[in-house]
Amino acid sequence: MDRNLPVNLGRVTEAAALACAKYLGKGDKEMADQAAVDAMRRMFDTVDIEGTVVIGEGEMDEAPMLYIGEKVGLRSDDDIKVDIAVDPVDGTTSVANGLPNAISVVGVAPKGCLLHAPDTYMKKLAVGPKAKGAIDIHKSVTENIINVAKALNKAVEDITVEILDRPRHDDMVREIRQAGARIKFIDDGDVLSAISTCFGYTGVDITMGIGGAPEGVITAVALKCLGGDFQGILAPPNEEHKARCIKMGADLDKVYYIDDLAKGDEMSFAATGVTYGELLQGVKYMENNTASTHTLILRLETGTIRFIESIHKLDKKPEYAK
Ligand code: FBP
Repeated sequence: MDRNLPVNLGRVTEAAALACAKYLGKGDKEMADQAAVDAMRRMFDTVDIEGTVVIGEGEMDEAPMLYIGEKVGLRSDDDIKVDIAVDPVDGTTSVANGLPNAISVVGVAPKGCLLHAPDTYMKKLAVGPKAKGAIDIHKSVTENIINVAKALNKAVEDITVEILDRPRHDDMVREIRQAGARIKFIDDGDVLSAISTCFGYTGVDITMGIGGAPEGVITAVALKCLGGDFQGILAPPNEEHKARCIKMGADLDKVYYIDDLAKGDEMSFAATGVTYGELLQGVKYMENNTASTHTLILRLETGTIRFIESIHKLDKKPEYAK
């Protein structure tokens, strides 16, 4: 894929983050999401691709923009055909409540390479490159913690597990505590959490627990680019979700490995911080109608990891403030 594509994807997530961050702490997650969707959708049409959204805001009848199947990009005759996985804001509630770790995120791969995951939950396990090969989602929480600790050459008591703060994780939390590991709870945003396992300075060694399956595909793109490891099993919470999965031909017993979710050896990824976080800073509004963004950009073909800090002169980009 075009070597400029990842940077152009960064422009897409920057636009969404800038539009959405205006709603920090305003208690309105719908407005925050809408602003991100509109800005992301507009910016996509400046990118040299013929993209099809495979992970998006929902099915065509439930989302006016960035719906599954929607075509995005400049779509010139010689543009590459790609699958697109987006989450204009992963952590809309965090934006509305003024909490950390919300990001705007995009993953892109050649057409047919990203799994069209059902809109349900997925049990997930993610680690960074140094613990690649040490996880097995069929093994117990304790065994996984011990094996990751060995791979990282750390004591179990020094392992930090990040997990969404949800009642459905009560048993898992009990077992992590019994194993002796540390726990960092997050309110939202398990994509950023999984990415954090690939950067030692975040202090996150393992991300585990049940989150969105579509987010699992986006996570797989990022972890594939970063050399991390990810496994997921669909976890529909009720019969309606189960039926939805079966209708889409999904296998409820299957372990989805990175290559099942994101196939092939060409992939690009971008994420921009919306609210403050340890890996990515949030949008900051500054003097003279300027704003800064912090973006992670990945390209699988070369393995390049870029962190880009940008300063935007919003007077010159009025569309970001719409
Ligand atoms: P959205 O902001 O896109 O709704 O997702 C936030 C999120 O925390 C994801 O990161 C996570 O996978 C999922 O929601 C967990 O779902 P739930 O909030 O229902 O537990």
